[in-house]
Amino acid sequence: MNKNALITIALAKGRLAQKTVALLEKCGIECSHILEPSRKLVFYDRTGAYRFIMVKPTDVPTYVESGVADMGVCGKDTLMEENKEVYEVLDLGFGACKLCIAGYKDAIKPITSPNLRVATKYVGIASRLFQMRGLNVEIIKLSGSIELGPIVNLSDVILDIVESGSTLRENNLSVLEEICDISARLIVNQVSLKTKLNKIKPLIGSMSEMLSDRASEE
Ligand code: PRP
Repeated sequence: MNKNALITIALAKGRLAQKTVALLEKCGIECSHILEPSRKLVFYDRTGAYRFIMVKPTDVPTYVESGVADMGVCGKDTLMEENKEVYEVLDLGFGACKLCIAGYKDAIKPITSPNLRVATKYVGIASRLFQMRGLNVEIIKLSGSIELGPIVNLSDVILDIVESGSTLRENNLSVLEEICDISARLIVNQVSLKTKLNKIKPLIGSMSEMLSDRASEE
């Protein structure tokens, strides 16, 4: 096959991959074998026209910006954090949650306090957010279990995604401020969009159509 005809899609391992594969299948791309348990990192659809690379969710924008992948699917939170030069072409709707500042409702220190300690895996977003507010906060980078921050007094608050809210609830924490809505986004390499437009545009179109069909069924 002509190398230029192959479309490489970077998929975030985990929950987003499942929903993305389901959507691609609806668009006629047979790729459900990707979800079978395996340690393989590269897959092709049944026709060989699409190649899928399975990457860590936070690395999706890196692969797409570099052009190694023509397209990718990742959360808006990852896109905001990584701040890469890619086109965000479609809101896929799934993976919906909110980016929030959370902590103890009755905390002594308000979230406008200049010496606030913020635990987060989103160091870039947190820096920009508090800088915009003119607040010189201390940002503490964590990789997971962010909610522990205020509980063990490592931080005053956290900046994290809230989906069902159960992690906050079960740890007696509350949302103190909603920052923005998050969901999965389809992103495209800036050069690929031009050079492979004949392949990429119809795929974006059919994904968009499937999403609106699903929305009208609900
Ligand atoms: C995420 C996020 C919150 C939790 C929110 O963590 O960091 O901890 O999900 O979901 P909820 O509102 O439905 O409880 P994740 O499950 O990715 O694990 P992590 O702590 O390892 O980041």
